[in-house]
Amino acid sequence: MSFADLWRELEPVGRDPGTGGYRRYSRTPADAQGRAWFTARATKLGLAVQADNNGNLWAWWGDARENAIATGSHLDSVPDGGGYDGALGVVSALAAVEMLKDKGFNPERAVVLALFTEEEGARFRVPCLGSRLMTGAIDADSARALTDDDGVTLAEAMTAAGCDAGLLGPRPDLLDGMAAFVELHVEQGRALAPLGAALGLAEGIWPHGRWRLVFSGRADHAGTARFADRNDPMLPYASTVLAARRAAAERGALATFGKVIAEPGGANGVSSAVTAWLDARAPDEAALTDTVTAVRSVAEFSCEEHGVTLSVRQESYTPVVRFDERLRDRIAGVLAAAGVKAPVLSTGAGHDAGVLAARVPTAMLFVRNPTGVSHSPAEHADLADCEAGVRALALVLEDLAR
Ligand code: GLV
Ligand code: MN
Ligand code: MN
Repeated sequence: MSFADLWRELEPVGRDPGTGGYRRYSRTPADAQGRAWFTARATKLGLAVQADNNGNLWAWWGDARENAIATGSHLDSVPDGGGYDGALGVVSALAAVEMLKDKGFNPERAVVLALFTEEEGARFRVPCLGSRLMTGAIDADSARALTDDDGVTLAEAMTAAGCDAGLLGPRPDLLDGMAAFVELHVEQGRALAPLGAALGLAEGIWPHGRWRLVFSGRADHAGTARFADRNDPMLPYASTVLAARRAAAERGALATFGKVIAEPGGANGVSSAVTAWLDARAPDEAALTDTVTAVRSVAEFSCEEHGVTLSVRQESYTPVVRFDERLRDRIAGVLAAAGVKAPVLSTGAGHDAGVLAARVPTAMLFVRNPTGVSHSPAEHADLADCEAGVRALALVLEDLAR
């Protein structure tokens, strides 16, 4: 099947008809549908699909379990995410293998397509959960105890999906058997369009993390409680949001509050608590630490002013990532020989490739995003660029697996 045909098949899975965005959260029916689709398409290509102990799927072309060349991405999404983030890498991997099979290529090393679980952390709040478990970047007990917004633990969700959460844990054997991992991904940001390049290569990923802030005050009546008598958690929360923007801008960093829950949520009441998630990223770890420290100190000061208590918890952290230079140079050489230019870009977006980079020589190929918008239904890549991405990935796999 062509890239376009595969794309059309996957397109409706988990798409919200109202917003046009994707709601493919892990261990939900949309997630199961995506996994079933991947399994069916990989099986049709003659690949042997295996689920690992962490909920990731691996589709093997070839029997050798040493020096394998891995590629792939994820199908889960952020709330109302775009169609390309993750899915482009999965569909391109299938299309690239089909292209290589059609031309009669026989890999000497195994080629394996990965489908990672919960890359976005949209449900259980830790991004790249599948790759973190596999590399040991998160321990199995902490992972099992992760909860979603309804209080369902990862262990419970896995059990409900027919998986054994008792088996979660690192897979050094799988990682040791990988000679390289190459993740193709839609560009997030807009660097390639002004350069007139359809494809790019990743240099590294900014260090980044998520912090949960709980501002606890006292519920009260919006029409009768005097300002002086209130302990309103919304006020220190509001100060903190503005401080985060300022602190990050001063340090060349980024800070975002994209999720907030006010309890109990009455329009005519002072909130009892406000829970908000700070996502912070910076070019280096010192700038990131500084930014978060500055945000925390404003939050603490403002909480004191309003008689509100504050608790802050780091929910995830990813140190700076530098992708393997030799692998990138090799890929650049393969592409240049085919007349494809691929500028090298740094990104603030997290990826399973970034987590795997701690254990395996890893590279990323980006496909131009003409508007740069991502984590949004407006995310887009032109079909011609996606097809160029598939051809490039096929060339890279052919070179690495030869
Ligand atoms: C993943 O897309 C992230 O960077 O949050
Ligand atoms: Mn994403
Ligand atoms: Mn992604």
